[in-house]
Amino acid sequence: MNDLDTLVSDAEREFAAAPTPAELENAKARYLGKAGRVTELLKGLAALTPEDKKTRGAAINQTKQRVEALLQARREALAEAELQAQLKAEALDVTLPGRRRGEGGLHPVSLSIERIEAIFGSMGFAVADGPEIETDWFNFTALNTPEDHPARSMHDTFYVEGGNVLRTHTSPMQVRHAVQHVRDHADKIARGERMPEIRVIAPGRTYRVDSDATHSPMFHQCEGLWIGESVSFADLKAVLADFFATFFETTDLQLRFRPSFFPFTEPSAEVDIAFASGPLKGRWLEVGGCGQVHPNVVRNFGLDAEHYIGFAFGLGPDRLTMLRYGVNDLRLFFDGDLRFLSQFRV
Ligand code: DAH
Repeated sequence: MNDLDTLVSDAEREFAAAPTPAELENAKARYLGKAGRVTELLKGLAALTPEDKKTRGAAINQTKQRVEALLQARREALAEAELQAQLKAEALDVTLPGRRRGEGGLHPVSLSIERIEAIFGSMGFAVADGPEIETDWFNFTALNTPEDHPARSMHDTFYVEGGNVLRTHTSPMQVRHAVQHVRDHADKIARGERMPEIRVIAPGRTYRVDSDATHSPMFHQCEGLWIGESVSFADLKAVLADFFATFFETTDLQLRFRPSFFPFTEPSAEVDIAFASGPLKGRWLEVGGCGQVHPNVVRNFGLDAEHYIGFAFGLGPDRLTMLRYGVNDLRLFFDGDLRFLSQFRV
């Protein structure tokens, strides 16, 4: 091996031993730099004869090219290694499932209320909404429940400042809606023309001092009211039978009116249903109250009680939801536990 081959193999070894681009550049300086071995060889040419210069010069130039080629190869190898290391460090597993945005859904009771609105809507009932903080007049007195009436004690309620109450039922919406309806058609009524019937439901939150597995201090009701010139108990039965059959998607269902008392209806009844099949088969389940609207209440609507008659009912959307989905503790609806709620996502 001559001195030039030795130089090339030295360079190859040193370049290979340089672990980083910076160290490779240092190694390069030792060969190709100003005082590098190749440069020194070229300087040595000055002392040679023109003849020797030619051959020696050509040989040194070739050596220089070989060193440069080795350098370039090592540079590329280091760059490639660096890229591989970086790719490895930033490895992306494209088979991992993506991060989804949390999906919400309607509360089961909201689903029921939407259902109730759709069913009664199909029977021509409007949907009304009203205040949860109610006056004593709308919540009690207008509904034939004066101050000293014992029925008030059935509603152990939350009084707020100013003598108002958190409404104990949605029944005040009967009065609010009917009064507005009568006002809207006052001209017609004054002319002795026929007033369009009042047909409305009013779902919403209600409040009572009550708390156990089947009672919550906040719960839902859905009021219904149908007033016209010849609206009868038979109509009430037809409306409710139709409603329950549609709500529970079964015609295998019995309906029962149990005589009861409410100050704002006369006669009054408790509504029970019984399924002919399924887990609740044969059990009578109370699902609401109803009755023919009391003449005193009709008068508070601003109507002639000799001329207008009809019925009202109050349903419990919470109870209906429990029956529909087989939920046995009312409190689950209000705990906000996603393990429970997410099961109703549609
Ligand atoms: N408001 C009653 C309650 O909360 C339920 C009720 C009964 C509503 C009879 C009515 C009705 O409209 O006619 O207990």
